[in-house]
Amino acid sequence: MTAIIRNHNVGHIAEHKQASRLIVAIDGPAGVGKSTVARLLASRLGYLYLDTGALYRAVAWAVTASGRDPADAEAVTALLPALSLQMQFHHGTATVLVNGKDVTGDLRTPEVSSAASVVSAIQAVRTWLLPIQQQIGQDGAVVAEGRDMGTNVFPAADVKFFLEADPTVRAQRRHRELVAAGHSGALEETTADLAGRDTRDRSRSIAPLVPAENARFIDTSILSVAEVVDQMMGVIAARL
Ligand code: DC
Repeated sequence: MTAIIRNHNVGHIAEHKQASRLIVAIDGPAGVGKSTVARLLASRLGYLYLDTGALYRAVAWAVTASGRDPADAEAVTALLPALSLQMQFHHGTATVLVNGKDVTGDLRTPEVSSAASVVSAIQAVRTWLLPIQQQIGQDGAVVAEGRDMGTNVFPAADVKFFLEADPTVRAQRRHRELVAAGHSGALEETTADLAGRDTRDRSRSIAPLVPAENARFIDTSILSVAEVVDQMMGVIAARL
C-alpha cells in the first residue's frame, strides 16, 4: 500500500510558468550534482522536485531494518506487498515515510546508499516503484532526477538532461557532502563506494544508467552549480 501526497502549493512562481507544466527529466551517476541542480531548477520554475533515489533508498532502508539482505532478491520481493511508502511534498522539500515512520534523515548514510544501489537492480523493486514515480509526475510541472527518468519512467518527458562528471570530482563532491552531514570516513572510502555503485548502476540488466536518446549532455566537472542551472534553464525556457 502506498500513498503519495503531492501538495500543489509548492511554488511561488508566476502562474504563466506553472501553466506550462513540463516534465523535466535529469539522469546521471552519483555525485554529478543532479539533486542540487534539480532542486534549484524546480524552485525557479515553481515545479515539484522529485528525487527518485529517495524512493530506492526508502526501500533499502526498509529491507535492512527488517534484517533482510539487500542482495537477496526473493527476500526483498517478499517484503514489498506489506511495504507502505509515503512521499509528502511541502515547500520544496519531501518527507519520506516507511510504514508511517519518517525516515528522511536516515536515507543518506553510506550503508543505505550502498543497499539502495543493490536493491535497485531487482526487477520487482523497479516494477513496484515505477507507478509511484509516474503518479507523482502525472500532472507535469515536475523536475525528476534519477537514473532512468528519460528512458523508463518519463520517456515522453518534455526536456531530458544527462549529467556527467569526472569520477574524481564526483567522489570529492560526495565526500564533502558526507562530511558536512557529520559522517566520518576517508575520501578513498567514498571513491571506492562510488566506483562500486557506478559499476552496478551502469551494468545492471534492468534499466541501467544510460542516457536517453534525445537527452542533452552536460559535463559538470568544471562548471559551477549556477552555470549548470543556467545552461539547463536556457534549454527549458525555449519550451515554456
Ligand atoms: O540518486 P541516489 O544516489 O539517491 O540513488 C540511490 C540509488 O538508487 C542509486 O545507486 C541507484 C538507484 N536509483 C535507480 O536505480 N534509479 C533511479 N531512478 C534512482 C536511483
